[in-house]
Amino acid sequence: MRKASIATVLVLVSSNAIAHDDLMKTAKQIFKPIPYAIPTLNDNPMTTEKVELGKMLFFDPRLSASGIISCNTCHNLGTGGVDAGPTSVGHGWQRGARRAPTVYNSVFNVAQFWDGRAPDLKAQAKGPVQASAEMNATADHVTSTLNSMEDYVGKFKRAFPRDTPPVTFDNFAKALEAFEATLTTPAAPFDQYLNGDGNALDDQQKAGLQLFMDKGCASCHNGINIGGQDFVPFGVMERPNIKLRPAADQGRFAVTKASSDQYVFRVAPLRNVALRAPYFHSGQVWTLQEAVGIMSEVQLGAKLSERENNDIVAFLYSLSGRLPKIEYPILPTRTKETPPPSL
Ligand code: HEM
Ligand code: HEM
Repeated sequence: MRKASIATVLVLVSSNAIAHDDLMKTAKQIFKPIPYAIPTLNDNPMTTEKVELGKMLFFDPRLSASGIISCNTCHNLGTGGVDAGPTSVGHGWQRGARRAPTVYNSVFNVAQFWDGRAPDLKAQAKGPVQASAEMNATADHVTSTLNSMEDYVGKFKRAFPRDTPPVTFDNFAKALEAFEATLTTPAAPFDQYLNGDGNALDDQQKAGLQLFMDKGCASCHNGINIGGQDFVPFGVMERPNIKLRPAADQGRFAVTKASSDQYVFRVAPLRNVALRAPYFHSGQVWTLQEAVGIMSEVQLGAKLSERENNDIVAFLYSLSGRLPKIEYPILPTRTKETPPPSL
Protein backbone atom coordinates (compact mmCIF):
# COMPACT_ATOMS: atom_id res chain seq x y z
CA MET A 1 0.00 0.00 0.00
CA ARG A 2 2.74 2.40 1.09
CA LYS A 3 4.79 1.38 -1.96
CA ALA A 4 1.86 2.07 -4.25
CA SER A 5 1.25 5.52 -2.87
CA ILE A 6 4.91 6.49 -3.25
CA ALA A 7 4.75 5.29 -6.85
CA THR A 8 1.60 7.35 -7.41
CA VAL A 9 3.27 10.43 -5.98
CA LEU A 10 6.29 9.86 -8.20
CA VAL A 11 4.10 9.61 -11.28
CA LEU A 12 2.27 12.77 -10.28
CA VAL A 13 5.49 14.66 -9.61
CA SER A 14 7.06 13.57 -12.86
CA SER A 15 3.94 14.34 -14.89
CA ASN A 16 3.88 17.71 -13.15
CA ALA A 17 7.52 18.22 -14.15
CA ILE A 18 6.65 17.31 -17.73
CA ALA A 19 3.72 19.74 -17.63
CA HIS A 20 6.05 22.44 -16.33
CA ASP A 21 8.61 21.61 -19.03
CA ASP A 22 5.88 21.94 -21.65
CA LEU A 23 4.73 25.23 -20.17
CA MET A 24 8.25 26.64 -20.34
CA LYS A 25 8.77 25.30 -23.84
CA THR A 26 5.55 26.84 -25.12
CA ALA A 27 6.26 30.12 -23.32
CA LYS A 28 9.70 30.31 -24.93
CA GLN A 29 8.10 30.09 -28.35
CA ILE A 30 5.74 32.99 -27.68
CA PHE A 31 7.73 35.39 -25.49
CA LYS A 32 11.33 36.60 -25.40
CA PRO A 33 13.35 37.67 -22.38
CA ILE A 34 14.64 41.25 -22.16
CA PRO A 35 18.37 41.15 -22.98
CA TYR A 36 20.84 42.40 -20.39
CA ALA A 37 22.74 44.35 -23.07
CA ILE A 38 21.47 47.79 -24.06
CA PRO A 39 19.91 47.59 -27.56
CA THR A 40 21.58 49.26 -30.54
CA LEU A 41 19.77 51.92 -32.55
CA ASN A 42 19.36 52.58 -36.28
CA ASP A 43 21.49 55.54 -37.45
CA ASN A 44 22.26 56.61 -33.91
CA PRO A 45 25.32 54.96 -32.38
CA MET A 46 25.21 54.88 -28.60
CA THR A 47 28.00 56.64 -26.73
CA THR A 48 28.32 57.46 -23.04
CA GLU A 49 28.41 61.18 -23.89
CA LYS A 50 25.16 60.97 -25.84
CA VAL A 51 23.34 58.94 -23.20
CA GLU A 52 24.42 61.32 -20.41
CA LEU A 53 23.31 64.31 -22.46
CA GLY A 54 19.98 62.61 -23.23
CA LYS A 55 19.43 62.07 -19.53
CA MET A 56 19.95 65.78 -18.83
CA LEU A 57 17.48 66.70 -21.57
CA PHE A 58 14.95 64.21 -20.21
CA PHE A 59 15.04 65.94 -16.82
CA ASP A 60 15.36 69.57 -17.97
CA PRO A 61 12.08 71.49 -17.48
CA ARG A 62 13.51 74.63 -19.12
CA LEU A 63 12.97 73.04 -22.52
CA SER A 64 9.23 73.56 -22.01
CA ALA A 65 7.60 76.96 -22.55
CA SER A 66 6.62 77.20 -18.88
CA GLY A 67 10.02 76.11 -17.59
CA ILE A 68 8.34 73.65 -15.25
CA ILE A 69 7.53 70.59 -17.38
CA SER A 70 10.15 68.01 -18.33
CA CYS A 71 9.77 64.60 -19.97
CA ASN A 72 10.05 63.20 -16.45
CA THR A 73 6.93 65.13 -15.37
CA CYS A 74 4.75 62.78 -17.41
CA HIS A 75 7.14 59.82 -17.66
CA ASN A 76 8.30 59.78 -14.05
CA LEU A 77 11.09 57.23 -13.86
CA GLY A 78 10.36 56.72 -10.17
CA THR A 79 6.77 55.66 -10.79
CA GLY A 80 7.08 53.14 -13.62
CA GLY A 81 7.81 55.74 -16.33
CA VAL A 82 4.32 57.26 -16.17
CA ASP A 83 2.50 60.10 -14.41
CA ALA A 84 -0.31 59.86 -11.88
CA GLY A 85 -3.01 59.79 -14.57
CA PRO A 86 -5.69 59.26 -15.60
CA THR A 87 -4.52 61.27 -18.65
CA SER A 88 -1.53 63.61 -18.72
CA VAL A 89 -1.67 67.20 -17.51
CA GLY A 90 0.60 69.52 -19.49
CA HIS A 91 1.15 73.21 -20.28
CA GLY A 92 -1.30 75.59 -18.60
CA TRP A 93 -2.89 72.73 -16.67
CA GLN A 94 -4.33 71.31 -19.92
CA ARG A 95 -5.45 67.72 -19.72
CA GLY A 96 -4.50 65.61 -22.73
CA ALA A 97 -6.81 62.95 -24.15
CA ARG A 98 -4.53 59.99 -23.48
CA ARG A 99 -2.60 58.37 -20.71
CA ALA A 100 1.20 58.65 -20.85
CA PRO A 101 2.62 55.25 -21.84
CA THR A 102 5.75 54.15 -20.01
CA VAL A 103 9.16 55.03 -21.43
CA TYR A 104 10.66 51.88 -19.88
CA ASN A 105 11.31 49.31 -22.63
CA SER A 106 9.63 51.56 -25.22
CA VAL A 107 12.65 50.89 -27.45
CA PHE A 108 11.25 47.39 -28.06
CA ASN A 109 7.88 48.60 -29.41
CA VAL A 110 7.27 48.39 -33.14
CA ALA A 111 6.28 52.08 -33.17
CA GLN A 112 5.61 54.80 -30.60
CA PHE A 113 2.35 56.20 -29.16
CA TRP A 114 -0.95 54.44 -28.50
CA ASP A 115 -1.65 54.74 -32.24
CA GLY A 116 1.92 54.05 -33.40
CA ARG A 117 2.18 57.33 -35.31
CA ALA A 118 5.95 57.75 -34.65
CA PRO A 119 8.20 55.09 -36.15
CA ASP A 120 10.88 55.32 -33.44
CA LEU A 121 12.00 57.16 -30.32
CA LYS A 122 13.97 59.71 -32.32
CA ALA A 123 10.89 60.76 -34.29
CA GLN A 124 8.78 60.61 -31.15
CA ALA A 125 11.01 62.93 -29.11
CA LYS A 126 10.26 65.97 -31.27
CA GLY A 127 6.53 65.71 -30.58
CA PRO A 128 6.06 66.40 -26.86
CA VAL A 129 8.18 69.56 -26.63
CA GLN A 130 6.06 71.10 -29.39
CA ALA A 131 2.65 69.74 -28.38
CA SER A 132 0.54 72.51 -26.90
CA ALA A 133 -0.98 70.21 -24.28
CA GLU A 134 2.44 68.92 -23.27
CA MET A 135 5.47 71.25 -23.22
CA ASN A 136 4.14 73.90 -25.64
CA ALA A 137 7.60 74.95 -26.87
CA THR A 138 9.17 75.23 -30.35
CA ALA A 139 12.30 73.79 -31.92
CA ASP A 140 13.75 77.32 -31.71
CA HIS A 141 12.98 77.60 -28.01
CA VAL A 142 14.79 74.29 -27.43
CA THR A 143 17.92 75.19 -29.40
CA SER A 144 18.09 78.77 -28.04
CA THR A 145 17.75 77.49 -24.49
CA LEU A 146 20.47 74.89 -25.02
CA ASN A 147 22.79 77.34 -26.82
CA SER A 148 22.43 79.83 -23.99
CA MET A 149 24.31 77.52 -21.61
CA GLU A 150 27.97 76.88 -22.45
CA ASP A 151 27.97 73.63 -20.51
CA TYR A 152 25.24 72.22 -22.79
CA VAL A 153 27.05 73.37 -25.94
CA GLY A 154 30.20 71.55 -24.79
CA LYS A 155 28.20 68.41 -24.07
CA PHE A 156 26.56 68.49 -27.52
CA LYS A 157 30.04 68.92 -29.10
CA ARG A 158 31.30 65.84 -27.30
CA ALA A 159 28.18 63.81 -28.11
CA PHE A 160 28.12 64.87 -31.80
CA PRO A 161 31.78 65.63 -32.61
CA ARG A 162 31.26 65.66 -36.40
CA ASP A 163 28.32 68.05 -36.50
CA THR A 164 28.48 71.81 -36.97
CA PRO A 165 26.60 73.25 -35.28
CA PRO A 166 26.29 70.47 -32.72
CA VAL A 167 23.17 71.89 -31.05
CA THR A 168 20.29 71.06 -33.39
CA PHE A 169 16.73 69.85 -32.85
CA ASP A 170 17.70 66.57 -34.57
CA ASN A 171 20.59 66.00 -32.20
CA PHE A 172 18.37 66.86 -29.24
CA ALA A 173 16.05 64.04 -30.40
CA LYS A 174 18.95 61.63 -30.98
CA ALA A 175 20.39 62.21 -27.51
CA LEU A 176 16.96 61.61 -25.96
CA GLU A 177 16.54 58.45 -28.00
CA ALA A 178 19.94 57.17 -26.83
CA PHE A 179 19.05 57.77 -23.19
CA GLU A 180 15.60 56.21 -23.55
CA ALA A 181 17.14 53.11 -25.14
CA THR A 182 18.98 52.51 -21.86
CA LEU A 183 15.67 52.38 -19.98
CA THR A 184 15.26 48.63 -20.21
CA THR A 185 14.26 46.43 -17.28
CA PRO A 186 15.73 42.91 -17.56
CA ALA A 187 15.72 40.13 -14.98
CA ALA A 188 11.99 40.07 -14.14
CA PRO A 189 10.94 36.72 -12.64
CA PHE A 190 9.35 35.96 -16.03
CA ASP A 191 12.66 36.65 -17.81
CA GLN A 192 14.44 34.33 -15.42
CA TYR A 193 11.80 31.71 -16.16
CA LEU A 194 12.22 32.16 -19.93
CA ASN A 195 15.97 31.82 -19.38
CA GLY A 196 15.38 28.37 -17.90
CA ASP A 197 14.85 28.87 -14.14
CA GLY A 198 11.71 26.82 -13.47
CA ASN A 199 11.49 28.18 -9.91
CA ALA A 200 11.40 31.83 -10.90
CA LEU A 201 7.58 31.74 -11.05
CA ASP A 202 5.46 30.39 -8.21
CA ASP A 203 2.60 27.95 -8.87
CA GLN A 204 -0.05 30.64 -9.12
CA GLN A 205 2.03 32.62 -11.62
CA LYS A 206 2.55 29.46 -13.67
CA ALA A 207 -1.19 28.84 -13.64
CA GLY A 208 -1.66 32.44 -14.75
CA LEU A 209 0.86 32.06 -17.56
CA GLN A 210 -0.93 28.92 -18.74
CA LEU A 211 -4.26 30.78 -18.75
CA PHE A 212 -2.70 33.80 -20.45
CA MET A 213 -1.70 31.52 -23.33
CA ASP A 214 -4.75 29.20 -23.33
CA LYS A 215 -7.37 31.96 -23.18
CA GLY A 216 -5.80 33.88 -26.08
CA CYS A 217 -4.25 36.91 -24.34
CA ALA A 218 -0.89 35.87 -25.79
CA SER A 219 -2.24 36.00 -29.34
CA CYS A 220 -1.88 39.78 -29.02
CA HIS A 221 0.40 40.26 -26.01
CA ASN A 222 3.56 38.41 -27.03
CA GLY A 223 7.22 38.92 -27.92
CA ILE A 224 9.78 40.73 -25.83
CA ASN A 225 7.42 43.45 -24.52
CA ILE A 226 4.40 41.15 -24.09
CA GLY A 227 2.69 43.49 -26.54
CA GLY A 228 3.73 46.60 -28.42
CA GLN A 229 4.01 44.78 -31.77
CA ASP A 230 0.57 44.85 -33.40
CA PHE A 231 -2.37 47.15 -33.94
CA VAL A 232 -5.84 45.79 -33.20
CA PRO A 233 -9.28 47.19 -32.41
CA PHE A 234 -9.84 47.97 -28.72
CA GLY A 235 -13.14 46.10 -28.58
CA VAL A 236 -12.82 43.09 -30.88
CA MET A 237 -15.80 41.24 -29.43
CA GLU A 238 -17.63 43.93 -27.50
CA ARG A 239 -17.54 47.72 -27.55
CA PRO A 240 -15.80 48.96 -24.39
CA ASN A 241 -17.66 51.36 -22.13
CA ILE A 242 -17.56 54.95 -23.49
CA LYS A 243 -15.42 56.06 -20.53
CA LEU A 244 -12.77 53.49 -21.45
CA ARG A 245 -12.92 54.18 -25.17
CA PRO A 246 -14.11 57.76 -25.62
CA ALA A 247 -15.80 58.23 -29.01
CA ALA A 248 -13.61 61.16 -30.06
CA ASP A 249 -10.34 59.22 -29.97
CA GLN A 250 -10.46 56.85 -32.91
CA GLY A 251 -6.90 55.64 -32.47
CA ARG A 252 -5.00 54.62 -35.55
CA PHE A 253 -7.72 55.93 -37.85
CA ALA A 254 -6.26 59.42 -37.33
CA VAL A 255 -2.95 58.13 -38.72
CA THR A 256 -4.05 56.02 -41.70
CA LYS A 257 -7.59 57.35 -42.41
CA ALA A 258 -8.57 53.74 -43.23
CA SER A 259 -12.02 52.91 -41.88
CA SER A 260 -10.70 49.50 -40.80
CA ASP A 261 -8.44 51.40 -38.36
CA GLN A 262 -11.28 52.99 -36.41
CA TYR A 263 -10.66 52.44 -32.70
CA VAL A 264 -7.53 50.46 -33.50
CA PHE A 265 -4.71 50.88 -30.97
CA ARG A 266 -1.30 49.40 -30.45
CA VAL A 267 -1.51 46.30 -28.26
CA ALA A 268 -0.35 47.65 -24.92
CA PRO A 269 3.05 46.32 -23.81
CA LEU A 270 2.62 44.62 -20.44
CA ARG A 271 6.17 44.83 -19.06
CA ASN A 272 6.05 46.35 -15.52
CA VAL A 273 2.30 46.72 -15.88
CA ALA A 274 1.80 46.23 -12.13
CA LEU A 275 3.76 49.46 -11.49
CA ARG A 276 1.66 51.80 -13.54
CA ALA A 277 -2.08 52.00 -12.94
CA PRO A 278 -4.39 53.45 -14.20
CA TYR A 279 -4.84 51.37 -17.34
CA PHE A 280 -5.83 51.75 -20.99
CA HIS A 281 -5.29 54.82 -23.18
CA SER A 282 -8.07 56.56 -21.28
CA GLY A 283 -6.51 55.75 -17.90
CA GLN A 284 -9.83 54.99 -16.25
CA VAL A 285 -9.16 51.60 -14.66
CA TRP A 286 -7.24 51.52 -11.41
CA THR A 287 -6.73 47.81 -10.71
CA LEU A 288 -5.20 45.02 -12.75
CA GLN A 289 -8.07 42.72 -11.72
CA GLU A 290 -10.53 45.03 -13.43
CA ALA A 291 -8.28 45.58 -16.48
CA VAL A 292 -7.87 41.83 -16.98
CA GLY A 293 -11.64 41.25 -16.66
CA ILE A 294 -12.34 43.97 -19.24
CA MET A 295 -9.74 42.61 -21.69
CA SER A 296 -11.16 39.14 -21.46
CA GLU A 297 -14.68 40.40 -22.18
CA VAL A 298 -14.03 43.00 -24.88
CA GLN A 299 -11.13 41.31 -26.71
CA LEU A 300 -11.98 37.64 -26.26
CA GLY A 301 -15.71 37.56 -25.47
CA ALA A 302 -15.02 35.39 -22.42
CA LYS A 303 -15.79 35.75 -18.74
CA LEU A 304 -13.02 34.71 -16.36
CA SER A 305 -13.70 33.16 -12.97
CA GLU A 306 -12.33 35.07 -9.99
CA ARG A 307 -9.63 32.48 -9.59
CA GLU A 308 -8.58 32.66 -13.24
CA ASN A 309 -8.49 36.43 -13.04
CA ASN A 310 -6.33 36.34 -9.88
CA ASP A 311 -3.96 33.82 -11.45
CA ILE A 312 -3.48 35.97 -14.55
CA VAL A 313 -2.87 39.03 -12.36
CA ALA A 314 -0.28 37.05 -10.37
CA PHE A 315 1.44 36.24 -13.67
CA LEU A 316 1.37 39.91 -14.68
CA TYR A 317 3.21 40.74 -11.44
CA SER A 318 6.05 38.50 -12.64
CA LEU A 319 6.66 40.98 -15.48
CA SER A 320 8.18 43.59 -13.15
CA GLY A 321 11.87 43.80 -13.98
CA ARG A 322 15.00 45.44 -12.58
CA LEU A 323 14.74 49.19 -13.08
CA PRO A 324 17.95 51.00 -14.03
CA LYS A 325 19.54 53.10 -11.29
CA ILE A 326 19.11 56.71 -12.35
CA GLU A 327 21.04 59.46 -10.66
CA TYR A 328 19.24 62.78 -10.99
CA PRO A 329 21.45 64.98 -13.22
CA ILE A 330 22.69 68.38 -12.11
CA LEU A 331 21.74 70.72 -14.96
CA PRO A 332 23.70 73.71 -16.35
CA THR A 333 22.82 77.05 -14.76
CA ARG A 334 20.72 79.44 -16.84
CA THR A 335 22.36 82.61 -18.23
CA LYS A 336 21.00 86.00 -19.22
CA GLU A 337 20.50 84.61 -22.75
CA THR A 338 18.28 81.76 -21.59
CA PRO A 339 14.71 82.47 -22.77
CA PRO A 340 12.44 83.32 -19.84
CA PRO A 341 9.48 81.07 -19.09
CA SER A 342 6.04 81.95 -20.40
CA LEU A 343 3.25 80.53 -18.33
C1 HEM B 1 4.09 59.21 -25.40
C2 HEM B 1 8.73 60.27 -24.50
C3 HEM B 1 7.26 64.51 -22.71
C4 HEM B 1 2.80 62.68 -22.28
C5 HEM B 1 5.46 59.11 -25.30
C6 HEM B 1 6.26 58.04 -25.80
C7 HEM B 1 7.56 58.31 -25.52
C8 HEM B 1 7.59 59.59 -24.86
C9 HEM B 1 8.78 57.46 -25.84
C10 HEM B 1 5.74 56.80 -26.53
C11 HEM B 1 5.81 55.59 -25.65
C12 HEM B 1 5.04 54.44 -26.24
O1 HEM B 1 4.30 54.63 -27.20
O2 HEM B 1 5.15 53.33 -25.72
C13 HEM B 1 8.73 61.59 -24.09
C14 HEM B 1 9.89 62.48 -24.06
C15 HEM B 1 9.47 63.68 -23.59
C16 HEM B 1 8.05 63.53 -23.29
C17 HEM B 1 11.30 62.08 -24.49
C18 HEM B 1 10.24 64.95 -23.45
C19 HEM B 1 10.87 65.47 -24.55
C20 HEM B 1 5.95 64.31 -22.31
C21 HEM B 1 5.20 65.25 -21.50
C22 HEM B 1 3.94 64.73 -21.37
C23 HEM B 1 3.91 63.48 -22.13
C24 HEM B 1 5.76 66.51 -20.88
C25 HEM B 1 2.75 65.26 -20.61
C26 HEM B 1 2.44 66.57 -20.57
C27 HEM B 1 2.74 61.66 -23.21
C28 HEM B 1 1.48 61.08 -23.68
C29 HEM B 1 1.87 60.11 -24.62
C30 HEM B 1 3.32 60.09 -24.67
C31 HEM B 1 0.07 61.45 -23.24
C32 HEM B 1 0.90 59.26 -25.46
C33 HEM B 1 0.37 60.14 -26.56
C34 HEM B 1 -0.35 59.39 -27.64
O3 HEM B 1 -0.35 58.17 -27.71
O4 HEM B 1 -0.96 60.09 -28.47
N1 HEM B 1 6.28 60.06 -24.73
N2 HEM B 1 7.64 62.27 -23.65
N3 HEM B 1 5.15 63.26 -22.66
N4 HEM B 1 3.80 61.06 -23.81
FE1 HEM B 1 5.71 61.63 -23.67
C1 HEM C 1 -4.40 46.58 -23.08
C2 HEM C 1 -4.21 42.45 -20.50
C3 HEM C 1 -6.14 40.11 -24.28
C4 HEM C 1 -5.18 43.91 -27.09
C5 HEM C 1 -4.25 45.67 -22.04
C6 HEM C 1 -3.97 46.04 -20.67
C7 HEM C 1 -3.90 44.89 -19.96
C8 HEM C 1 -4.15 43.80 -20.85
C9 HEM C 1 -3.59 44.75 -18.46
C10 HEM C 1 -3.76 47.47 -20.15
C11 HEM C 1 -2.30 47.83 -20.23
C12 HEM C 1 -2.00 49.29 -20.00
O1 HEM C 1 -2.90 50.12 -19.91
O2 HEM C 1 -0.81 49.61 -19.93
C13 HEM C 1 -4.79 41.47 -21.29
C14 HEM C 1 -5.17 40.16 -20.83
C15 HEM C 1 -5.77 39.51 -21.88
C16 HEM C 1 -5.70 40.40 -23.02
C17 HEM C 1 -4.94 39.61 -19.42
C18 HEM C 1 -6.46 38.19 -21.89
C19 HEM C 1 -7.42 37.92 -20.96
C20 HEM C 1 -5.96 40.89 -25.39
C21 HEM C 1 -6.23 40.47 -26.75
C22 HEM C 1 -5.95 41.55 -27.55
C23 HEM C 1 -5.52 42.64 -26.68
C24 HEM C 1 -6.69 39.09 -27.17
C25 HEM C 1 -6.06 41.66 -29.04
C26 HEM C 1 -7.14 41.16 -29.71
C27 HEM C 1 -4.98 44.99 -26.24
C28 HEM C 1 -4.96 46.38 -26.66
C29 HEM C 1 -4.75 47.14 -25.51
C30 HEM C 1 -4.62 46.20 -24.40
C31 HEM C 1 -5.15 46.90 -28.08
C32 HEM C 1 -4.72 48.66 -25.44
C33 HEM C 1 -6.14 49.17 -25.32
C34 HEM C 1 -6.18 50.69 -25.21
O3 HEM C 1 -6.24 51.34 -26.26
O4 HEM C 1 -6.17 51.21 -24.11
N1 HEM C 1 -4.36 44.30 -22.12
N2 HEM C 1 -5.11 41.59 -22.61
N3 HEM C 1 -5.52 42.19 -25.38
N4 HEM C 1 -4.77 44.92 -24.89
FE1 HEM C 1 -4.94 43.26 -23.75
